[in-house]
Amino acid sequence: MTIKAIVFDAYGTLYDVQSVAGVTDAAFPGHGEYITQVWRLKQLEYTWLRSLMGRYEDFRTVTCDSLRYTLDTLGLTADQTLVDRIVEAYNTLSPYPEAEEALGRLAKFRLALLSNGSPDMLDGLVRNSGLDRYLEAAISVDARKTYKPDPCAYELIQERLGVRPEEVVFVSSNGFDVAGARSFGFSVVRIERVTPAALRHELASAAPIGPATLFRALRMQTEALDYAPNAVVSSLLALPGLVETLLG
Ligand code: LAC
Repeated sequence: MTIKAIVFDAYGTLYDVQSVAGVTDAAFPGHGEYITQVWRLKQLEYTWLRSLMGRYEDFRTVTCDSLRYTLDTLGLTADQTLVDRIVEAYNTLSPYPEAEEALGRLAKFRLALLSNGSPDMLDGLVRNSGLDRYLEAAISVDARKTYKPDPCAYELIQERLGVRPEEVVFVSSNGFDVAGARSFGFSVVRIERVTPAALRHELASAAPIGPATLFRALRMQTEALDYAPNAVVSSLLALPGLVETLLG
Protein backbone atom coordinates (compact mmCIF):
# COMPACT_ATOMS: atom_id res chain seq x y z
CA MET A 1 0.00 0.00 0.00
CA THR A 2 1.45 3.35 -0.97
CA ILE A 3 0.42 6.16 1.30
CA LYS A 4 1.44 9.54 0.04
CA ALA A 5 -0.77 11.98 1.89
CA ILE A 6 -2.33 12.24 5.31
CA VAL A 7 -5.28 14.58 5.27
CA PHE A 8 -6.94 15.86 8.40
CA ASP A 9 -10.35 17.19 9.24
CA ALA A 10 -9.98 20.50 11.09
CA TYR A 11 -12.73 21.20 13.60
CA GLY A 12 -12.78 18.58 16.33
CA THR A 13 -9.81 16.67 14.91
CA LEU A 14 -6.77 18.98 14.90
CA TYR A 15 -8.60 21.86 16.60
CA ASP A 16 -10.77 21.75 19.69
CA VAL A 17 -14.16 23.35 18.93
CA GLN A 18 -14.90 23.28 22.64
CA SER A 19 -12.29 26.00 23.05
CA VAL A 20 -14.92 28.61 22.06
CA ALA A 21 -16.55 28.07 25.47
CA GLY A 22 -14.57 30.89 27.08
CA VAL A 23 -15.81 33.35 24.46
CA THR A 24 -19.46 32.23 24.55
CA ASP A 25 -19.52 32.31 28.33
CA ALA A 26 -17.89 35.74 28.49
CA ALA A 27 -20.50 37.09 26.05
CA PHE A 28 -23.44 35.40 27.79
CA PRO A 29 -22.44 34.49 31.35
CA GLY A 30 -23.93 31.25 32.59
CA HIS A 31 -24.93 30.11 29.09
CA GLY A 32 -21.51 29.22 27.70
CA GLU A 33 -21.87 25.44 27.80
CA TYR A 34 -25.33 25.39 26.28
CA ILE A 35 -24.41 27.86 23.52
CA THR A 36 -21.16 26.06 22.68
CA GLN A 37 -22.87 22.68 22.23
CA VAL A 38 -26.11 23.71 20.51
CA TRP A 39 -24.20 26.07 18.23
CA ARG A 40 -21.88 23.31 17.02
CA LEU A 41 -24.74 20.81 16.63
CA LYS A 42 -26.73 23.30 14.53
CA GLN A 43 -23.70 24.45 12.55
CA LEU A 44 -23.12 20.96 11.16
CA GLU A 45 -26.84 20.36 10.70
CA TYR A 46 -27.03 23.50 8.55
CA THR A 47 -24.14 22.29 6.38
CA TRP A 48 -26.09 19.11 5.63
CA LEU A 49 -29.39 20.91 5.10
CA ARG A 50 -27.88 23.50 2.78
CA SER A 51 -26.08 20.80 0.79
CA LEU A 52 -29.32 18.82 0.37
CA MET A 53 -31.30 21.95 -0.49
CA GLY A 54 -28.71 23.00 -3.06
CA ARG A 55 -28.44 26.30 -1.18
CA TYR A 56 -24.77 26.52 -0.30
CA GLU A 57 -23.57 29.42 1.82
CA ASP A 58 -20.03 29.45 3.12
CA PHE A 59 -19.11 28.15 6.56
CA ARG A 60 -18.76 31.61 8.07
CA THR A 61 -22.39 32.33 7.15
CA VAL A 62 -23.52 28.93 8.43
CA THR A 63 -21.58 29.54 11.64
CA CYS A 64 -23.25 32.95 12.13
CA ASP A 65 -26.73 31.55 11.34
CA SER A 66 -26.36 28.63 13.73
CA LEU A 67 -25.14 30.96 16.49
CA ARG A 68 -28.17 33.18 15.95
CA TYR A 69 -30.47 30.13 16.09
CA THR A 70 -28.85 29.09 19.37
CA LEU A 71 -29.17 32.53 20.96
CA ASP A 72 -32.82 32.70 19.83
CA THR A 73 -33.63 29.48 21.69
CA LEU A 74 -32.51 31.25 24.87
CA GLY A 75 -34.34 34.46 24.00
CA LEU A 76 -30.98 36.23 23.76
CA THR A 77 -30.11 38.76 21.09
CA ALA A 78 -26.79 39.86 19.66
CA ASP A 79 -26.05 42.56 17.12
CA GLN A 80 -23.89 41.73 14.11
CA THR A 81 -20.78 43.09 15.83
CA LEU A 82 -21.17 40.70 18.74
CA VAL A 83 -22.01 37.75 16.44
CA ASP A 84 -18.88 38.52 14.39
CA ARG A 85 -16.79 38.75 17.55
CA ILE A 86 -18.00 35.37 18.83
CA VAL A 87 -17.59 33.71 15.42
CA GLU A 88 -14.07 35.15 15.31
CA ALA A 89 -13.25 32.60 18.03
CA TYR A 90 -13.17 30.03 15.24
CA ASN A 91 -10.00 31.70 13.91
CA THR A 92 -8.16 31.10 17.16
CA LEU A 93 -9.36 27.67 18.21
CA SER A 94 -6.81 25.75 20.25
CA PRO A 95 -5.14 22.86 18.49
CA TYR A 96 -5.31 19.65 20.53
CA PRO A 97 -2.19 19.56 22.73
CA GLU A 98 -0.55 16.74 20.77
CA ALA A 99 -1.36 18.09 17.28
CA GLU A 100 1.92 19.87 16.58
CA GLU A 101 4.14 17.00 17.73
CA ALA A 102 2.08 14.50 15.71
CA LEU A 103 2.33 16.58 12.55
CA GLY A 104 6.07 17.01 13.08
CA ARG A 105 6.49 13.24 13.31
CA LEU A 106 4.56 12.72 10.06
CA ALA A 107 6.74 15.12 8.09
CA LYS A 108 7.76 12.52 5.50
CA PHE A 109 4.18 12.48 4.19
CA ARG A 110 2.30 15.20 2.41
CA LEU A 111 0.06 16.75 5.06
CA ALA A 112 -3.09 18.78 4.47
CA LEU A 113 -6.46 19.76 5.87
CA LEU A 114 -9.78 19.15 4.16
CA SER A 115 -12.41 21.12 5.99
CA ASN A 116 -15.85 22.61 5.76
CA GLY A 117 -14.31 25.89 6.94
CA SER A 118 -14.36 28.75 4.48
CA PRO A 119 -10.95 29.65 3.02
CA ASP A 120 -10.54 32.78 5.16
CA MET A 121 -11.42 30.88 8.35
CA LEU A 122 -8.96 28.07 7.58
CA ASP A 123 -6.15 30.41 6.57
CA GLY A 124 -6.54 32.37 9.81
CA LEU A 125 -6.74 29.20 11.87
CA VAL A 126 -3.63 27.47 10.53
CA ARG A 127 -1.63 30.70 10.65
CA ASN A 128 -2.72 31.71 14.16
CA SER A 129 -1.98 28.24 15.53
CA GLY A 130 1.36 27.90 13.72
CA LEU A 131 0.28 24.59 12.16
CA ASP A 132 0.72 26.14 8.71
CA ARG A 133 4.41 25.18 9.08
CA TYR A 134 3.45 21.52 8.78
CA LEU A 135 0.53 21.64 6.34
CA GLU A 136 1.05 21.92 2.64
CA ALA A 137 -2.56 22.98 2.03
CA ALA A 138 -5.71 23.92 3.92
CA ILE A 139 -8.31 22.75 1.43
CA SER A 140 -11.78 24.21 1.81
CA VAL A 141 -14.93 22.56 0.49
CA ASP A 142 -15.90 26.03 -0.66
CA ALA A 143 -14.30 25.26 -4.05
CA ARG A 144 -17.16 22.79 -4.65
CA LYS A 145 -19.96 24.76 -2.89
CA THR A 146 -21.03 21.73 -0.90
CA TYR A 147 -20.12 20.20 2.45
CA LYS A 148 -18.73 16.94 3.70
CA PRO A 149 -19.82 14.14 3.46
CA ASP A 150 -20.75 14.95 -0.16
CA PRO A 151 -18.25 12.92 -2.24
CA CYS A 152 -17.61 16.07 -4.31
CA ALA A 153 -15.97 17.56 -1.24
CA TYR A 154 -13.58 14.61 -0.80
CA GLU A 155 -12.69 14.74 -4.52
CA LEU A 156 -10.87 17.98 -3.80
CA ILE A 157 -8.02 16.04 -2.24
CA GLN A 158 -7.14 14.38 -5.54
CA GLU A 159 -7.71 17.62 -7.41
CA ARG A 160 -5.52 19.71 -5.12
CA LEU A 161 -2.82 17.22 -4.11
CA GLY A 162 -2.79 15.00 -7.20
CA VAL A 163 -3.03 11.82 -5.12
CA ARG A 164 -5.44 8.95 -5.68
CA PRO A 165 -7.92 7.97 -2.91
CA GLU A 166 -5.98 4.77 -2.19
CA GLU A 167 -2.87 6.87 -1.52
CA VAL A 168 -4.62 8.88 1.21
CA VAL A 169 -5.11 8.30 4.90
CA PHE A 170 -7.91 10.53 6.09
CA VAL A 171 -8.05 11.42 9.78
CA SER A 172 -11.16 12.64 11.56
CA SER A 173 -12.86 12.51 14.92
CA ASN A 174 -16.25 13.45 13.48
CA GLY A 175 -18.36 10.32 13.00
CA PHE A 176 -20.16 11.60 9.91
CA ASP A 177 -16.85 12.57 8.33
CA VAL A 178 -15.30 9.19 9.10
CA ALA A 179 -18.23 7.44 7.40
CA GLY A 180 -18.18 9.85 4.45
CA ALA A 181 -14.44 9.53 3.86
CA ARG A 182 -14.53 5.75 4.17
CA SER A 183 -17.49 5.53 1.80
CA PHE A 184 -15.52 7.70 -0.63
CA GLY A 185 -12.65 5.23 -0.63
CA PHE A 186 -9.97 6.59 1.70
CA SER A 187 -8.32 4.62 4.46
CA VAL A 188 -9.68 6.34 7.54
CA VAL A 189 -8.35 6.70 11.05
CA ARG A 190 -10.82 7.86 13.66
CA ILE A 191 -9.52 9.82 16.62
CA GLU A 192 -11.66 8.69 19.51
CA ARG A 193 -11.70 11.47 22.07
CA VAL A 194 -14.51 9.92 24.13
CA THR A 195 -14.65 6.14 24.43
CA PRO A 196 -18.05 4.42 24.44
CA ALA A 197 -17.28 3.21 27.99
CA ALA A 198 -16.50 6.76 29.17
CA LEU A 199 -19.71 8.03 27.61
CA ARG A 200 -21.78 5.26 29.19
CA HIS A 201 -20.26 6.04 32.54
CA GLU A 202 -21.03 9.74 32.07
CA LEU A 203 -24.62 9.01 30.99
CA ALA A 204 -25.11 6.80 34.02
CA SER A 205 -23.77 9.34 36.44
CA ALA A 206 -24.83 12.69 34.95
CA ALA A 207 -28.24 13.68 36.22
CA PRO A 208 -29.70 15.57 34.53
CA ILE A 209 -27.79 14.98 31.29
CA GLY A 210 -26.29 18.31 30.23
CA PRO A 211 -25.59 19.73 26.74
CA ALA A 212 -21.90 18.70 26.75
CA THR A 213 -22.80 15.07 27.53
CA LEU A 214 -25.46 15.11 24.83
CA PHE A 215 -22.91 16.48 22.36
CA ARG A 216 -20.50 13.67 23.22
CA ALA A 217 -23.32 11.16 22.64
CA LEU A 218 -24.45 12.68 19.34
CA ARG A 219 -21.18 13.71 17.71
CA MET A 220 -18.24 11.97 19.31
CA GLN A 221 -19.10 8.31 18.75
CA THR A 222 -18.85 6.02 15.72
CA GLU A 223 -21.94 6.43 13.55
CA ALA A 224 -24.13 3.41 12.65
CA LEU A 225 -23.69 4.19 8.95
CA ASP A 226 -21.91 1.01 7.78
CA TYR A 227 -18.62 2.69 6.83
CA ALA A 228 -16.44 1.92 9.81
CA PRO A 229 -12.95 3.42 10.12
CA ASN A 230 -9.91 1.26 9.33
CA ALA A 231 -8.46 2.10 12.70
CA VAL A 232 -9.46 3.91 15.88
CA VAL A 233 -6.92 5.61 18.13
CA SER A 234 -7.24 7.89 21.13
CA SER A 235 -4.59 10.43 20.17
CA LEU A 236 -3.04 11.99 17.07
CA LEU A 237 0.30 10.77 18.43
CA ALA A 238 -0.66 7.20 17.56
CA LEU A 239 -0.70 8.10 13.87
CA PRO A 240 3.01 7.79 12.96
CA GLY A 241 3.19 4.17 14.22
CA LEU A 242 -0.19 3.32 12.77
CA VAL A 243 0.64 4.60 9.31
CA GLU A 244 3.83 2.51 9.32
CA THR A 245 1.65 -0.55 10.10
CA LEU A 246 -0.76 0.32 7.28
CA LEU A 247 2.24 0.68 4.99
CA GLY A 248 3.73 -2.62 6.08
C1 LAC B 1 -14.57 20.25 9.31
C2 LAC B 1 -15.80 19.88 10.11
C3 LAC B 1 -16.19 18.48 9.89
O1 LAC B 1 -13.55 20.71 9.82
O2 LAC B 1 -15.73 20.09 11.41
O3 LAC B 1 -14.68 20.05 8.13
